[in-house]
Amino acid sequence: MTTLGGKVALISGAARGIGAETARQMANAGAAVVIGDILEDVARGTAAEICAAGGAAEAVRLDVASEGDWTAAIATATRSFGKLDILVNNAGIFTGRDIEEATLDDWHRLVAVNMTGVFLGTKLAAPALRETGEKSPHGSAIVNLASVAGLVGSVGDPLYSMTKGGVTMFTKSAALSFAKKGYRIRVNSVHPGVIDTDMGNVAIARRMRVGGSNDQADFAKQLHPLGRMGHADDVAATILFLASDEARFMTGSALVVDGGFTAQ
Ligand code: NAI
Repeated sequence: MTTLGGKVALISGAARGIGAETARQMANAGAAVVIGDILEDVARGTAAEICAAGGAAEAVRLDVASEGDWTAAIATATRSFGKLDILVNNAGIFTGRDIEEATLDDWHRLVAVNMTGVFLGTKLAAPALRETGEKSPHGSAIVNLASVAGLVGSVGDPLYSMTKGGVTMFTKSAALSFAKKGYRIRVNSVHPGVIDTDMGNVAIARRMRVGGSNDQADFAKQLHPLGRMGHADDVAATILFLASDEARFMTGSALVVDGGFTAQ
């Protein structure tokens, strides 16, 4: 089992879905977790559930498009738990609109959350991650949530695909930049298939409409050769691995967790 004993993680968009499951699994693995989200009540509920189970967690308001919110969230991590070892840039949105349907506002919203959020998190957390990285045996880590739609084209949401392609390349560029500067911060991306969360259910419904299918189980099987939609815990386990010292020689990698989606 992956161990994160003594580490401190900040996870964006962790009130629910993949982020919340990552927070639970990281807490179980021994990390203290800061749960950042715009859904403040839900985030507090997730943190309370982790604390009730014996973990260490705190919820903060974090809109990933706000520089001030990031600064406050990072300060919460260092004030409450003493340092920052891990940043998971998980917050993301999906519109499910075709190129001709989408408005400029849709695009600006997607960019603000899916791209500006990852840039700001990386930039503003870098000093704290660098400081911790200098003292820990295998450095600190950033894990970015991209998507299979950041590796192959998506008919269901071309604009989402464009933002996730950006996250894929930013991950590699940040990995190279930090390594070249001698910062001990590894940066890797995770690329889920369709995962059974609020977003995943909207995404599969959209893909079914485009694909002319009305049988979700059968459609999920066609997309994922392993025969099902993914679950949040499938993805969280991969995020934990990349965030842990077990992935100490990995940086700039793009790890698919997609039941074979992109192998076809
Ligand atoms: P979700 O919709 O269940 O949860 C996303 C979380 O992000 C929510 O708690 C939401 O409040 C939060 N969020 C949205 N805008 C925010 C903002 N401006 N600032 C802070 N938090 C914000 O989605 P899910 O499925 O858990 O997705 C997590 C990540 O995984 C996203 O980056 C998504 O693009 C990616 N992903 C998800 C897939 C899926 O099928 N569910 C497939 C591939 C990638």
